[in-house]
Amino acid sequence: MTNTAHSSQDAATLLRVDNLKVQFGVPRGGFPWSGKTMLRAVDGVSFNVRRGETVGLVGESGCGKSTLARAIIGLAPVADGSVRWLGDETVLPGARRDTSRLRRDVQMIFQDPLASLDPRMTIEQIVAEPLTTHGQDIARADVQRRVLTMLERVGLNAQHLRRYPHEFSGGQCQRVGIARALIGEPQLVICDEPVSALDVSIQAQIVNLLRDLQRELSLSLLFVAHDLAVVKAISHRVLVMYLGRVMEFGDKRDVYGTPRHPYTRALLSAVPVPDPVVERARRHLLLRGEIASPLNPPSGCAFRTRCPDAIEACAQDVPQAITHGANATRVACIRVGDMMKEASLSGR
Ligand SMILES: Nc1ncnc2c1ncn2[C@@H]1O[C@H](COP(=O)(O)OP(=O)(O)OP(=O)(O)O)[C@@H](O)[C@H]1O
Ligand SMILES: [Mg+2]
Repeated sequence: MTNTAHSSQDAATLLRVDNLKVQFGVPRGGFPWSGKTMLRAVDGVSFNVRRGETVGLVGESGCGKSTLARAIIGLAPVADGSVRWLGDETVLPGARRDTSRLRRDVQMIFQDPLASLDPRMTIEQIVAEPLTTHGQDIARADVQRRVLTMLERVGLNAQHLRRYPHEFSGGQCQRVGIARALIGEPQLVICDEPVSALDVSIQAQIVNLLRDLQRELSLSLLFVAHDLAVVKAISHRVLVMYLGRVMEFGDKRDVYGTPRHPYTRALLSAVPVPDPVVERARRHLLLRGEIASPLNPPSGCAFRTRCPDAIEACAQDVPQAITHGANATRVACIRVGDMMKEASLSGR
């Protein structure tokens, strides 16, 4: 068991996020003169994404998943901490950095496929746009060839080139979004709830497509979703967030197989098992109450007000992430830390 400083410089790491904080000033009352208060949407998040892996990001609605994703590419105001891309600092509080490399290397896929495509552009124009806006000098014939190859790779074809987004289904629009994100050969694709707006059967097709592309192209994905089954299907490592903070981060097999943080355990226990006999025999951990407000988060551990294991000490300090197990799962819970300490002292 070791304390996780952000020291280990992992050669395979593409993206490193350290102690990232994003705050929004929101009106305190109903009047302009009531002043503003700070909403802590992301509150000290640290994690990394390695080359060729998929990191799943899960947590309840409003816990800061989209804000974290947006902050990574410089679209949300960073109050503290840093984002490093291939070792270079790209996003810092108040600092203007040259983010052109990050913008080329990192692409995003959004939740609402139709809304994220310009309705006045043809599919060919939409998919080709990243090639033409990054100042690359690519011959027109080459652009057309690459667009068609990419469309075919995502399951569309030449007949779709001259059509407009409104002529497509949600699943097809998401395929166009994926083609557009991949055409410039990015290294990391941030997928913010890419299948949440789709039918269940279409969800599986898109998840499979993303997984195949990830393997084929050795892509890295940061896959944001609140559906734990979807995240399990696609991720190598999983990051569990609660109220702007990381509760647990580790190998998928550990997070799903032996969840350590009480929040991860509660989230997983809420997912029904398809076998009715097993399902009836399961004990469900019910989460008490509502998620706390990021305007006024609880002192100490953000999850303590709903945690079945909380003790007085949980209200004192924000728990530091401690690594556990052979695969170094990071868990931010003092009770889990104490239990592991006791177990190692008693030689278990
Ligand atoms: N531009 C903004 N101004 C003020 N508050 C914001 C802004 N963007 C997000 N927030 C707040 O930050 C918190 C995190 O929001 P975010 O959209 O990142 O959550 P999320 O985990 O992506 O939720 P969901 O699963 O519903 O998409 C929420 O309380 C939200 O209201
Ligand atoms: Mg979101």
